[in-house]
Amino acid sequence: MTSETRHFATVADLTDQEIQLVYEVSANTKTQVAQGIRGGQLAGRVLGMIFEKPSMRTRLSFEAAMIQAGGHAIDIRGPEIGLGKREAAKDVAAVMSRYVDAIMIRTFAHENVEILAENSDVPVINGLSDSAHPCQALSDLFTVREKLCSPQGELGSLDGARLTFVGDGNNVARSLARLCGRLGVHFTLSAPAGHEFDEAFLATVAKESPSGQPVRTIPDPAEAVGNANVVYTDVWASMGQEKEAAARKKVFQPYQLNADLMSHAPDDALVMHCLPAHRGEEISDDVMDSSNSVAYDQAENRLHVQKGLLFFLLGVERG
Ligand code: CP
Ligand code: NVA
Repeated sequence: MTSETRHFATVADLTDQEIQLVYEVSANTKTQVAQGIRGGQLAGRVLGMIFEKPSMRTRLSFEAAMIQAGGHAIDIRGPEIGLGKREAAKDVAAVMSRYVDAIMIRTFAHENVEILAENSDVPVINGLSDSAHPCQALSDLFTVREKLCSPQGELGSLDGARLTFVGDGNNVARSLARLCGRLGVHFTLSAPAGHEFDEAFLATVAKESPSGQPVRTIPDPAEAVGNANVVYTDVWASMGQEKEAAARKKVFQPYQLNADLMSHAPDDALVMHCLPAHRGEEISDDVMDSSNSVAYDQAENRLHVQKGLLFFLLGVERG
């Protein structure tokens, strides 16, 4: 691999200035799409996408982003590639980077993303691993900024906002916590015992935060949402944890985002969900469909922000 190749394996791979740049480009391209303008910034460029887990948003938003910008995306399902089984991950990375301009991978072990990145000559983007979903977090804080601040505002304008994640301390929660820490957003996790962040991860978040701001852990969900600007939830059993789903359903029941729990939050608190939602489990229908919910806007922004990210990683920063 070449040392100047940039990857996006976790949110730590972009500096604050680069996040600001990606957000500016994403806001511009979002405006252009709304005006019916499609650019040719990625004409002739190809994104190779590996999916070892199912996806709707990630696959479509990346593919649509490439096509709208004049490029193309090809997706290959996990069993076809057989990462680490049919072929060593390093060989997959080396060969794929001879064919495509960037690689997106959705996988189980985060190590797979790291091995691809170490052995690829083209940018590798983490489209979700067991421990991180950086594209989701990058896009979600763009959405929070759009809703709570001026879209053109400085990154620092998120400073002091409060986001409470209710549910499992999973890949989505971890990426959000890291990015919130970086951008001055107070992050609170409300999870059942045994499903919180581990100490090493908490130390990482505090270290990365310019003010050393710690993640707050509040087991009581009613207390945790008390002063939140944003209340966020995700599934109780992530992809790969299907066998634990029944047991988790019992443990997580008190953490359902429903009208009763939302009555403890400020009236104007945004409700966010990365989707897919299991309606009736981690979120009730009425909360999911309430005027506080911005879940569909969140999903839309995956398209715009990933386009901004692709422009950055492929060297067409200004779109
Ligand atoms: N939020 C998200 O990544 O959705 P998909 O699993 O459908 O890609
Ligand atoms: N935590 C979920 C996110 C899905 C986008 C999962 O990993 O299945």
